[in-house]
Amino acid sequence: MSAEEPLLSVRDLRISFDGAEAVRGLSFDVRAGEVLALAGESGAGKSLTARALLGLVPRDAAVRGSVRLRGRGPSGQRAAGTELVGASRRTLAGLWGRRVAFVPQDALSALSPVHPVGDQIAAAVRSLHGVTRREAQGRAAGALDRVGVPAARLGAYPHELSGGMRQRAVIALATAGDPELVVADEPTTALDPDLRDQVLGLLAERRETTGGSLVLVTHDLEAVRERADRVLVLYAGRHAESGPAAPVLARPRAPYTAGLLASLPPAVPVPGRGRRLPAIGGTPPAPGEPATGCAFAPRCPLADGRCRAEVPAPRPVGAPADGREVSCHHAAGLPASLTALFREAA
Ligand SMILES: Nc1ncnc2c1ncn2[C@@H]1O[C@H](COP(=O)(O)OP(=O)(O)OP(=O)(O)O)[C@@H](O)[C@H]1O
Ligand SMILES: [Mg+2]
Repeated sequence: MSAEEPLLSVRDLRISFDGAEAVRGLSFDVRAGEVLALAGESGAGKSLTARALLGLVPRDAAVRGSVRLRGRGPSGQRAAGTELVGASRRTLAGLWGRRVAFVPQDALSALSPVHPVGDQIAAAVRSLHGVTRREAQGRAAGALDRVGVPAARLGAYPHELSGGMRQRAVIALATAGDPELVVADEPTTALDPDLRDQVLGLLAERRETTGGSLVLVTHDLEAVRERADRVLVLYAGRHAESGPAAPVLARPRAPYTAGLLASLPPAVPVPGRGRRLPAIGGTPPAPGEPATGCAFAPRCPLADGRCRAEVPAPRPVGAPADGREVSCHHAAGLPASLTALFREAA
């Protein structure tokens, strides 16, 4: 494990609306150059958490805890970091595009409908790098070329581009300032499978080309398996399980992760099991509920009295070097194949 300071440190992050907590005390790091996936069902708090990494929380949200972006000093020196919770608009505006950038699910919402995409990227390049108009146009063409948008499309308006081209243009726009962190919220939901692979490839490749980190919010556990170094599984605004993506998905240790996986069709059809497996029974709780105990207990085949009374804290499982953590009172004595347990229960 590297002793390098994480790019971003999140500590006890809590986001609430009218007193109901939707994100309920999350702590995790984003390491420099890694792809970290945030997974979990709808309403788990993935988008709120992802946006908080950029200081982009809804106006009516109350945010507590800490999201700290490490300092960027001359090489070898440690500069002071920046706290994003409660940061001024001015501080945040100085970071957006330069150090942290956001790729939303809906590409249209990120682009202005009334300007050609090439001009929008050139304007971003000018404001970030202070270069001449001509230079900015050249860099915009380069940025679009890198994501596979041909130069002939520089003058196109967003509505004239296909969904895939628009999503690429948004990636070019977000990465025009070479940010250290890109946060992408379900960037491929609207795309067909070929485009999905291309867009995920483009986002993940930045690690090789620029050493940038990626936080990928996704429902798509296949994308996590293919692209992520580590995964953080959320349930009802809390940590359920985290660790290196491959072992977490191959052998989940949190009942909730197992349930999520059990509800997926097998990647390779298993003889006699090629059908779609049933989803986890029940629904996730609303923000703020339940007040006590493990939020997954009502849906968990292993739940007992303690689970209903006491919120489980994340605890290490496996070899310490793996950095795996599970939030489950039964973590020490879980059955070997949790996924099978869900298949039986369903
Ligand atoms: N502006 C808001 N006002 C009130 N509640 C909100 C607001 N934004 C989010 N929430 C609530 O917070 C919870 C988490 O929302 P979030 O959007 O982070 O979920 P998510 O994991 O991204 O889900 P999805 O997979 O559907 O995108 C949800 O229950 C949602 O209703
Ligand atoms: Mg979301």
